[in-house]
Amino acid sequence: MKKDLLTLSNFNREEILLLLQKSVRLKEMRKNGIAHQPLKGKSLGMIFSKHSTRTRISFEVGMFELGGQALFLTSDQLQMTRGESVEDSAKVLSRYLNGLVVRTYDHEDLTSLARHASIPVINGLTDLSHPVQILSDIFTIQEKLGRIENVKVAYVGDGNNVAYSWILGASIMGMHLALACPKGYQPEQPDGMGSLGKVEVVEDPFAAVKDADVIYTDVWVSMGQESDSDTKIKKLQPYQINQKLVNAAKKDVLVMHCLPAHRGMEITAEVMDGPHSIVFDQAENRLHVQKAILETLLSPPEQ
Ligand code: CP
Ligand code: NVA
Repeated sequence: MKKDLLTLSNFNREEILLLLQKSVRLKEMRKNGIAHQPLKGKSLGMIFSKHSTRTRISFEVGMFELGGQALFLTSDQLQMTRGESVEDSAKVLSRYLNGLVVRTYDHEDLTSLARHASIPVINGLTDLSHPVQILSDIFTIQEKLGRIENVKVAYVGDGNNVAYSWILGASIMGMHLALACPKGYQPEQPDGMGSLGKVEVVEDPFAAVKDADVIYTDVWVSMGQESDSDTKIKKLQPYQINQKLVNAAKKDVLVMHCLPAHRGMEITAEVMDGPHSIVFDQAENRLHVQKAILETLLSPPEQ
């Protein structure tokens, strides 16, 4: 049975912990120049309908380093945008490829492709969620703090796809997550979240960052949502990650941003380039964690 990664709820806590362990090993091997090519001869299709720097390049390089190849395809190059059905496309692609990474708008487009594909499908970001980002961010937190238990993450800004995946990630891993988002821009609540972890949504960014180990933000205007941007940017001004907000958290708080960043908007240059910021280590870890995801899903252990 193939396994997809469409949202974080496709993985349980134990599976995520295994993935983090695998990521540590892969990062170490790469650092020591040890070749590890379990995906030799395998091909990963990558269908992107939106821009990308990190997701695209880290998946392409990751697949190459694992011994396989990645084929990058913008959606407008495929017959799917000329009317070939998702079902037929998924069946055909499954005959050639060993896995697919998809970045698209509507999450339903991803799930319907995955339903008809017999190969693993990985969400490379939809309007709803960004699971590979949050898996990688949890890895970065564990690497920097040595633990994920009892870590308080304050997500400050737009309640978007990244915020949604953070809610799932924190719930599954039992982390404390406080999201500060203005009214009207608060995140969707995943179904069946139950009482896992400690997740709270507040309006005051200073309340969210109190005692926080990590302050996290993302762009105020996500790809495809540009039409509402003026009103939204005005409402989000008090949610900027600046020195005053950083000073209200724990003394050694880590500042994270999934990137791309807009200095002067959701984060000041002072904070982004300052001593609390770990954004470039965070970006690097996308490579190591996604290699672990690829190895897990494209080369499952023999039954
Ligand atoms: N953080 C992230 O997914 O970046 P890209 O849009 O550059 O892939
Ligand atoms: N929320 C952002 C994340 C970019 C990686 C977007 O969807 O554009």
